[in-house]
Amino acid sequence: MAILPILEYPDPRLRLRAEPVDAFDDDLARLVDDLCDTLRASKGIGLAAPQAGDRRRVLVMDLSGGAASPDVYINPEIHDPAVPGLVEESCLSVPGVVGNVVRATQLTVCARDRYGAAFERRLEGMHAVCLQHELDHLEGRLFVDRLSIFRRVGVRLGAVARARSRAASI
Ligand code: NI
Repeated sequence: MAILPILEYPDPRLRLRAEPVDAFDDDLARLVDDLCDTLRASKGIGLAAPQAGDRRRVLVMDLSGGAASPDVYINPEIHDPAVPGLVEESCLSVPGVVGNVVRATQLTVCARDRYGAAFERRLEGMHAVCLQHELDHLEGRLFVDRLSIFRRVGVRLGAVARARSRAASI
């Protein structure tokens, strides 16, 4: 059990496509537990393994505000996305940025649990939105990629400025 450091934009590791999990072993169990701990500590609603520098296709979500254990999705795939909507998103890896993104608000997800058992679940509303956001992380995509070109330039300049001011304060 550990709280993992979360990579921040523009770290190039956030751009790598994650690999399917084929070993449902102790090492995977440790990753899942650490992601759940990290999600709780960060008070986010979703976290994908690449945000913690791990390249496995694992994501965790908790829309209960910490009232329940996070949902775990391994090797998730989306089917039947429906009812697109404009949704306000933010991301633990892109601090300080909020933007509107078009997402399906209904979908079916097929995935495996931490023991390797396959399951299928219909998600709606923020559950569906959050799953798409986290699945983007597994593809090396960030929600800011889905913003307008003008917003993307602003996000990039903001990240560069933050990195410079950190460097200057050493
Ligand atoms: Ni994110």
